[in-house]
Amino acid sequence: GKARIAVTGLATMGSNLARNLARHGFKVAVHNRTPAKMKALLDEHGHEGDFVGAETLQDLVDSLQTPRQIIIMVKAGGPTDAVIDELSGLLEPGDMVIDGGNAHYADTRRREAALKEKGLLFVGAGISGGEEGALNGPSIMPGGPAESYKHVGPVFEEIAAKVDGQPCCVHVGPDGAGHFVKMVHNGIEYADMQLIAEAFDLLTRVGGMAPAEISDVFTQWNSGDLESYLVEITAEVLKHVDANGTPLVQVIEDAAEQKGTGRWTVQEALELGVPVTGIAEAVFARSLSGHTDQRKAVRDAFGASEVVAKPDAELVDDVRQALYASKVVAYAQGFDMIREASKNFDWDIDLGAMATIWRGGCIIRAQFLNRIREAYDKNASLASLLVDNYFRDAVQNAEAAWRRVVVRAVESGVPTPGFVSALAYYDGLRSERLPAALVQGQRDFFGAHTYRRVDRPGSFHTLWSGDRTEVDA
Ligand code: 6PG
Repeated sequence: GKARIAVTGLATMGSNLARNLARHGFKVAVHNRTPAKMKALLDEHGHEGDFVGAETLQDLVDSLQTPRQIIIMVKAGGPTDAVIDELSGLLEPGDMVIDGGNAHYADTRRREAALKEKGLLFVGAGISGGEEGALNGPSIMPGGPAESYKHVGPVFEEIAAKVDGQPCCVHVGPDGAGHFVKMVHNGIEYADMQLIAEAFDLLTRVGGMAPAEISDVFTQWNSGDLESYLVEITAEVLKHVDANGTPLVQVIEDAAEQKGTGRWTVQEALELGVPVTGIAEAVFARSLSGHTDQRKAVRDAFGASEVVAKPDAELVDDVRQALYASKVVAYAQGFDMIREASKNFDWDIDLGAMATIWRGGCIIRAQFLNRIREAYDKNASLASLLVDNYFRDAVQNAEAAWRRVVVRAVESGVPTPGFVSALAYYDGLRSERLPAALVQGQRDFFGAHTYRRVDRPGSFHTLWSGDRTEVDA
């Protein structure tokens, strides 16, 4: 018989996804631009299930049941457009193209609209979990027209990670919603990684601890509120020694790279006007780390900052609490961003469902997401995750430790942009009055930009360069 579904693009993510499908009993047609990769997949893993090798995209199309479903797993951008263009000439109305790469959601919206014209269904699906997830159960965030989910949803739910028997996959919303949510997932991933890295830095430089000791601390944290994949792998990375017996973390170049999804998140947040300060600081911290020449110039000019380790009994637990509170802030900001985009694009995204499908399979999977789901299940229009009772209590309990850690970091010269900005965000939201009033005054002074008053309605302008009386604007 014909294949149920197809995968084109057989780099690691694509071939692992194809194997996952085959292992779940779906007959999978597989294709790669250079057929050698397709043949290698069949040679090495053909026994894992029912595969059909296709040498060309035409062969791939011919090998499928109708309506056809083809998953594209190629590089985002031009390469994805090239495959979509070729495929759309070969497919029939009712067929479906699924982009499983890290596409920009605006590209997904454009592609969905273009394929709709041709009677084709287009699904932009975020897939998280790296190589391992693709093979053994990722978190899948499919967007696109609701009817597409009837066809491909059951397949995705079958191959997705499961938590408490529930698949980590749900129809996110129309057109670019799936890729948007995947982008924000990656942004949160950046923030989470940065916060963990700051905790490590503080324990190293202020705490005077060795990587192996810090590894033990993370292992311990992983059995509490912080339990998560990222904390777990942090412990693994920290305890690893290289062939010379040196802790690996001490010999990896300290310049963090990025493929772009974190940057996209911040760019979109700026457009939407949502302060995702944690994600932004994480992206900028990676940029700063990469400016090695500039870092050297400043070190040469000022001398490298010398931090004298001053461990105290509270430090480790204080850092744990600062990490937790900052993490709550980063997730609150990320969920705000999804809510705003959902309003803006009419996506009607269920925030609780997003937390649910992030509990397993993906890079930010964590216990904590159960709490986020509960928060949005109780109140879908929560003003901020921070005001949910559970998170309010958690942040209140952590607040004193969080402030102590920020003070320690600032005093000792250990950069903690994530912790500091998260605290500033919290303090900003809590303040009765913000100095934004002064900013409005300045704007009115130099540009007659007007201001509103707390004591009466309307817009006003002060005649700054005249007699300084106030006029209605
Ligand atoms: C995932 C990851 C995945 C990838 C990131 C890495 O959810 O499985 O987020 O998408 O590992 O793109 O991103 P950077 O290279 O930008 O750190």
